[in-house]
Amino acid sequence: MDQNSITVTLTENKKEIPQSNQLEFGRIYSDHMFIMDYEASTGWHSPRIVPYQNLVLDPAAIVFHYGQTVFEGLKAYVTKQGNVQLFRPEKNMERLNRSNDRMCIPRIDEDFGLEAIKKLVSIDKDWIPTAPGTSLYVRPFIISTEPYLGVAPSKKYQFIIILSPVGAYYKEGINPIKIAVESKFVRAVSGGTGEAKTAGNYAASLKAQEVVAEQGYAQVLWLDGVERNYIEEVGSMNIFFKINGEIVTPALNGSILEGVTRNSVIELLKKWEIPVIEKQISMDDIYQAYQDGHLEEAFGSGTAAVISPVGELAWNDDKLKINNGEIGPIAKKLYDTLTGIQYGAEADPFGWIVEVE
Ligand code: COI
Repeated sequence: MDQNSITVTLTENKKEIPQSNQLEFGRIYSDHMFIMDYEASTGWHSPRIVPYQNLVLDPAAIVFHYGQTVFEGLKAYVTKQGNVQLFRPEKNMERLNRSNDRMCIPRIDEDFGLEAIKKLVSIDKDWIPTAPGTSLYVRPFIISTEPYLGVAPSKKYQFIIILSPVGAYYKEGINPIKIAVESKFVRAVSGGTGEAKTAGNYAASLKAQEVVAEQGYAQVLWLDGVERNYIEEVGSMNIFFKINGEIVTPALNGSILEGVTRNSVIELLKKWEIPVIEKQISMDDIYQAYQDGHLEEAFGSGTAAVISPVGELAWNDDKLKINNGEIGPIAKKLYDTLTGIQYGAEADPFGWIVEVE
């Protein structure tokens, strides 16, 4: 299959494109969507771009009952010169297939998946917002559609891509957020599905999120599921700390999501010759560094969140105030550089940008 095998039906009812300076995250969807189907006998087939519409599914579809589903998130940007570009989209396609493997979903052809994204973004390119910090969020996902109440991998799937013009993920924007360290609930354990981008991980996170939101925290910082001491990730991003001049981030251990932005941060820090270490980090290490006055910065990284500085970390009865609740120089430099590359304002020395015709 190539781009030409994707049939296109354009909408006859174009929606109003929202003002780009009033966007929230993920509430508005563009005019078109991509769909292709899978049956065990034929494999993936019938790729098509159609007007954005509701899905018609059997109420017994496996996805509703057992959550056999995966998703991805990436963004399309428009440069000052009017070029449309994606950031490391092949990484998302690779990860989608890793998630597929974990969830017993048939792999997709990664090159074709990328072609589908490009074609859809190109058709709806007028939906890419232009205000600073805004972009067109691309959400590819796969659902299991076979009607069956037995617990088994589905024999039918749909691969769908939708587009959403978005503003900042957090209402704080690039201003530091407050995060609560979660000591009661856990998100994932080694051997579970934590590494896969699958709905259940996010469903499992809601309760803790709801509890801390009432206390004014934007997200929780997850600890490991066994000892409740080792740091894993934040609800929608990976986490980094600057301790005594060195940047540390939890090593990938099977229950942490392998973030594309996380990898980009590590690559940038290495290029700048700033020491960066992936290792097991305990909350006791962080607390000790804080007490010694060595906890200099904390920030999250993610596609939706980009770089999000952490100004306060609540842990049990302590509130660790980081960098006076202000954005630190490393977080700022990473944010400026990443967004500079993504919006085409800075050179792309790593070849991370993929142009959309
Ligand atoms: C992303 O950063 O793209 C994510 O998938 C996080 C999300 C759950 C909003």
